[in-house]
Amino acid sequence: MDWIDLRSDTVTRPTPGMRAAMLAAEVGDDVFQEDPTIKALEEKVASLLGKEAAVFCPSGTMSNQMSIRTHTQSADEIICEESCHIFNWEAGGPAALSGVSCRTLRGQDGVLEVHHVEGMVRPPNDHYPRTRVLCVENTHNRCGGKVQPFETLKSLRDWTKKNNLAFHLDGARLWNASIASGIPLDQWGGLFDSVSVCFSKGLGAPVGSALTGSKDFIHRARRFRKLFGGGMRQAGILAAAAIYALDNHFQRMVEDHENAQIFARAVRETPGLEIDHPTVETNIIWFRVDSAVVQVPQMVAAFKAEGVLIHTSGLNLMRAVTHLDVSKAQVAKAAGIVKKVVSGFTHGKKISSKVG
Ligand SMILES: Cc1ncc(COP(=O)(O)O)c(C=O)c1O
Repeated sequence: MDWIDLRSDTVTRPTPGMRAAMLAAEVGDDVFQEDPTIKALEEKVASLLGKEAAVFCPSGTMSNQMSIRTHTQSADEIICEESCHIFNWEAGGPAALSGVSCRTLRGQDGVLEVHHVEGMVRPPNDHYPRTRVLCVENTHNRCGGKVQPFETLKSLRDWTKKNNLAFHLDGARLWNASIASGIPLDQWGGLFDSVSVCFSKGLGAPVGSALTGSKDFIHRARRFRKLFGGGMRQAGILAAAAIYALDNHFQRMVEDHENAQIFARAVRETPGLEIDHPTVETNIIWFRVDSAVVQVPQMVAAFKAEGVLIHTSGLNLMRAVTHLDVSKAQVAKAAGIVKKVVSGFTHGKKISSKVG
C-alpha cells in the first residue's frame, strides 16, 4: 500500500538526489578525524548556528546526552521542562550516562520563563546536588511543535549567565523554528552554550545529528561520543546526505507547516477530536480522542485500513506530523479520511464538546 505516513518526520526516505550525493561522497576514518565530508558538514553546521565547532553524531539522543555529560559531573542536576524529550524519551540517559538528576518544571505549552526557573538553582550545601545546566527544546515536540518565543529565551540566557549555568538547546527541529519564526539559525544558536540539531527529521536525511558549541566544548564532547559508542568510521556517506538535506530541504519546510494547518483544520472541525496544543505553529499536531466515541487502538486500525498511519501516545492521545514524504494532496486526503473515520464512530453517539 502507498501509505500516508504521518507518525513522525523521522520516517522519510532518502530521495534519489540525496542517494546520488551519498554515492559520490569522499570518505575517510572519522574517528581519526579524516573524513572530509564529515568535516565539511561539521563546519557548515557550526557556521549556520554561529558556533565555533560541531561534531557529527548518530542520533539526537546521543548529541543531547553528550552535551549533558560534557556540561556536568556525576551527582549534578539539570533543569528542564517536564514534557521535554531529554527527560521523557531518552531512556533515562541523564541518569545512566552522566549520573545526573533532572529537576523538571512545568512550563506553559512547553515554554519555561524566568519566573518558572527563578529560585531553582540550589545554593552551595553538601546536601544538595549542584545545579549545572538549563535545557530547553525548540521546537517543542510534545507541545505541538511549539516555537519558543525568542525574547523568552533571551531572558533565560541572561538568567543562566547570572546563575553560572550552562544553557543547552535540544534543537532537533530548530530548522522548523527558524522557518516558522523567520529568525535565522545563528540568532537562535547565539543564545546557547550548546545546541544539538537533527538531520533525520524534517530535513529528511536517513541518519544523524550534530552537537555544536565552543571549540573546547566540542573537543571534550568528542571523547564522550567515543565513550557512548558513537565513533563512526567512513560515515561521510551519511554526512553527504545531511549536507544535501541542508541545501535542498531546509527552505521547503514551509510546505510542511502549511500542510500541518490542513490537518489541524480537519481535527478542529471533527466532533469527537480536540487539538491538544491549539496553536499549531510548525509540523506537529497532537490531538485527543473522545474515549466515549472510540478507543485509540480502534481508531488507529481504522485509519490504517484507509492507508493513513498516525502515532499514538498515552490513553487517548494521537500525533500527526507532516514532512518531506507527504505531499499537500496526501495530507488533504488524510484530513478527509480523519473526518470520515471519526464520523463513522460518532454516528448516533453523544459527543462531549470537551475531550477529556
Ligand atoms: C525534540 C527531540 N529531541 C531529540 C530527539 C532524539 O532524536 P533521535 O531519535 O535521533 O535520537 C527527538 C526525536 O524524535 C526529538 O523529537
